[in-house]
Amino acid sequence: MMLTQRGVYFTVILAVILGSDCKFVSSYSVTDAENIHTAILTSYNKHVLPEEPVIVQAEYNLLTINSLEMKTQTLTTSGWFTVVWNDSRLAWTKSSYGNIEHIYASQKIIWHPELIVENSVIGLTNLGQDDIQLRIQYDGEVRWEPPAVLSTSCDMDVTFFPYDIQTCEVELASWGFPSTAVNLSFLKTHVNLNNYRTNGEWDLLSTDQHHGAIIEDDLTYSELLFSLHVQRLPGYYLMSVIFPVIVTAVLTSVTFMLPVESGEKVGYILTVLLALAVLLTLFSDSLPTTSKHTSVLVIFLTVTLGLASFVIILTVLIIRLYHKPDSDVMPQWVHRFVNKCRTLKCKTATVSLTDDKVSRKVNTTPQGGKSVWSDKDTVRPFEDDKNTNKDLAEFFDKSCFFVFTVVYLMVVLGFTMTLGTSS
Ligand SMILES: *[C@@H]1O[C@H](CO)[C@@H](O)[C@H](O)[C@H]1NC(C)=O
Ligand SMILES: *[C@@H]1O[C@H](CO)[C@@H](O)[C@H](O)[C@H]1NC(C)=O
Repeated sequence: MMLTQRGVYFTVILAVILGSDCKFVSSYSVTDAENIHTAILTSYNKHVLPEEPVIVQAEYNLLTINSLEMKTQTLTTSGWFTVVWNDSRLAWTKSSYGNIEHIYASQKIIWHPELIVENSVIGLTNLGQDDIQLRIQYDGEVRWEPPAVLSTSCDMDVTFFPYDIQTCEVELASWGFPSTAVNLSFLKTHVNLNNYRTNGEWDLLSTDQHHGAIIEDDLTYSELLFSLHVQRLPGYYLMSVIFPVIVTAVLTSVTFMLPVESGEKVGYILTVLLALAVLLTLFSDSLPTTSKHTSVLVIFLTVTLGLASFVIILTVLIIRLYHKPDSDVMPQWVHRFVNKCRTLKCKTATVSLTDDKVSRKVNTTPQGGKSVWSDKDTVRPFEDDKNTNKDLAEFFDKSCFFVFTVVYLMVVLGFTMTLGTSS
């Protein structure tokens, strides 16, 4: 009993020693690595394909989104590709070389697929540099990781700027080798984001990937598309674009509140118009210039500017009317229209007080010609059909103020609701 127990201990200790010994045996030795290099690379011809087709698996590892420019429609990213394929010529028997599992060799001396990022905007050159090291596994699997700062074109839809969501693609294509020679496929199901660092302006929502193809004559070139879905963080634009524009727009209708005697009306509205124009100029850098998708914000600015111009014309007409001599009487229909409006307004104002009396009296108005309200002191009496030009101007000023306030509220509401529904 004692003996067997001791025997078990001994065996365990021996196994531990042997185990550590085994590990020691598999450790790296320069001589072994040199031998592998000599054995597999001496007669290696890097211009010859390892097989046909070579299945090349690739993955995109995203580090950062550097920028996504609306004006140039360019996405700039930093990252690298992981590219894996099998080259049976580069395999060795582990046990013959001290159990070494990996060796490294430069890209210059090993066959590797030629890859380009097809939607790059700063030059279509092959990925990788000569001094990049490839990792070769004993079974012939080669792993190549060319890093790249990519500027790729991205078709942006700016309709709901600054609440827009963009989808941009990085298109990795085989160059020179058609898909019968090099067939690209995905290594993983998604873009690798393990090392991703967030961007201040864009929030990365999700990624996906799908196959593509470049067809030229009767040759098909394999292509992998990595898509990034990003959402703009609107805080900055909300504070520096949307808010000032809305406030300035609403200031426009205040023009009609200024009395004509102050002589400030035209000066005021021109200042507002200039402020709008200045805002528009300031933002023109950050506003999308594409005509493919029209931004809601640009429409809003245009409508606001158009309304402001219209307000200027109305203001000038009203001032002109105000200063007309009373001998220059406005046409009859204007007076009739104004009187009718006033009647309506008075009716709504007093309808709750004397309901049946009002309706009876209103019925007599068209024949009577005289105002029905002349005997009341709750409302301002006007004895005659004819208003003075000053009265008319003031009336138009007031009505325009209400009309434009409502119009502006509707425009602003419509604008914010359109933006709101997008997000
Ligand atoms: C390489 O070969 C191994 C084993 O034969 C296989 O499991 C792996 O999928 C191959 N890799 C590629 C990229 O074809
Ligand atoms: C490339 O690989 C895909 C599957 O990964 C396959 O459907 C396709 O037929 C292959 N193309 C060629 C030319 O071998």
